[in-house]
Amino acid sequence: MLHKEMFVGYGGAKGGGKSHALRTVIVMLCAKYENLSAVLIRRTYDEVKSNQIQYIEQMLKDAMTGDNGIRHNAQDHIFYFPNGSRLKYTYCSSTKDLQQFQGMSYDIIGLDEATQFEYEVFTTLAACLRGSPELPKRMYITCNPGGIGHEWVKRLFIDREFREGENPDDFAFVQALASDNVFNGEHYMQTLNLYDEPLRSAYRDGKWDIFIGQAFPQWDEEAISVDPFQIPDHWTLSMSIDYGFDCFAPIWYATDEQGVDYILRGAEYKDCVVREAAEHIFRIEHDLGITERRIRRYAPPDLFRRSTQTGKTSVDMFAENGYTFMPSDNNREAGWLAIRQRLSDGQLKIIRGAAPELNKAMKIIQYVSGNPNDCEKTPHDITHSPDSLRYYCVMRNKRAVVPLSAKHRDKRYVKTYDDKRPRNSRFRPGNYLKGW
Ligand SMILES: Nc1ncnc2c1ncn2[C@@H]1O[C@H](COP(=O)(O)OP(=O)(O)OP(=O)(O)O)[C@@H](O)[C@H]1O
Ligand SMILES: [Mg+2]
Repeated sequence: MLHKEMFVGYGGAKGGGKSHALRTVIVMLCAKYENLSAVLIRRTYDEVKSNQIQYIEQMLKDAMTGDNGIRHNAQDHIFYFPNGSRLKYTYCSSTKDLQQFQGMSYDIIGLDEATQFEYEVFTTLAACLRGSPELPKRMYITCNPGGIGHEWVKRLFIDREFREGENPDDFAFVQALASDNVFNGEHYMQTLNLYDEPLRSAYRDGKWDIFIGQAFPQWDEEAISVDPFQIPDHWTLSMSIDYGFDCFAPIWYATDEQGVDYILRGAEYKDCVVREAAEHIFRIEHDLGITERRIRRYAPPDLFRRSTQTGKTSVDMFAENGYTFMPSDNNREAGWLAIRQRLSDGQLKIIRGAAPELNKAMKIIQYVSGNPNDCEKTPHDITHSPDSLRYYCVMRNKRAVVPLSAKHRDKRYVKTYDDKRPRNSRFRPGNYLKGW
């Protein structure tokens, strides 16, 4: 916690003393620097009060006496230090609570249990690190593996895979172990052994390579990936889309004779109108060499709803651009179940590297706590490709049929082409069972 980088992570095992270290370092900085502005955040007020504030009051009880002591204004949720520093504490249950941080400036931000927050919370708070250049600017985050923020915390602090605009020198990480905390007795260590895997590895050993709450543990990238191959002409082709103005997520599939679906391509495009979406479809199908093939296309039922402004549906507009869709089923639980079923039956494969956004999202999407049959709708940006996949999986797929060679072709069937009997004759092949 003595790191000087702008973003300092302290995470891993449960009970390592992370929250304790966080409050201690923030209080020490408030005492050390004059006019420092700090904020301490957890998901709810109750959590911040019970896990942090009562301990801070205890820690500062000797310094809170007398007129010149530290003052705690419980109404404003602020500790006022005599040197002009202020420590505010607040909550942020999700991105909808970020409004309160717009335009705010803090020198020090403490985000406790950061893996409970979306990436957007991190970026919005990071933008609040500003103010007097004489004062340090730092954001401390503490975390346990698992939760909706697992992916970004792991990416930035453990894997150190940085995107454009993220400076590696700004990030430092301290691995937490349960044994860090001398106040944890033998009994506490034993209770950590009681967790089932993968929680045990995460909470006892602070392992980050596991996922907790992951909706699709069966999505094992290595196991379901296959190397690219030439798609036989007789395989059936399908595609599904999730379309909203914020994201267009098309996925293409090829189905073999056993009904195994191979994901040929998956993509996500931001902010595109229907015409642009159709152009993306054309480009990818051209790329895959399937523009001349018949493709069954599925779209969510809400795209079949008529707009009150234009009187058209989104699928009408797609049709105007050359692509017609069938409505899929929007029953979420049935859709997720269909994906799980296909994964566990080995009926869903993906061409290696063909759908990076889908692959990433399927690995981290969480199930709703209390309802393992449904998936979380947050973080919103990872839901598009999985939704598109469920729109396909919930529909019955059509297996490929091996074309018969001329030698094996059913002679009677061939005969029907020049059959002189009336079309509705009961004696024409194919009409035998009609009307029975
Ligand atoms: N240096 C310390 N001095 C006094 N008490 C400590 C110290 N370190 C940890 N503790 C106490 O140990 C307990 C566990 O610590 P803390 O809650 O900070 O762990 P944590 O890593 O945040 O746990 P979790 O993973 O559950 O959030 C708390 O009661 C805390 O007050
Ligand atoms: Mg804690």
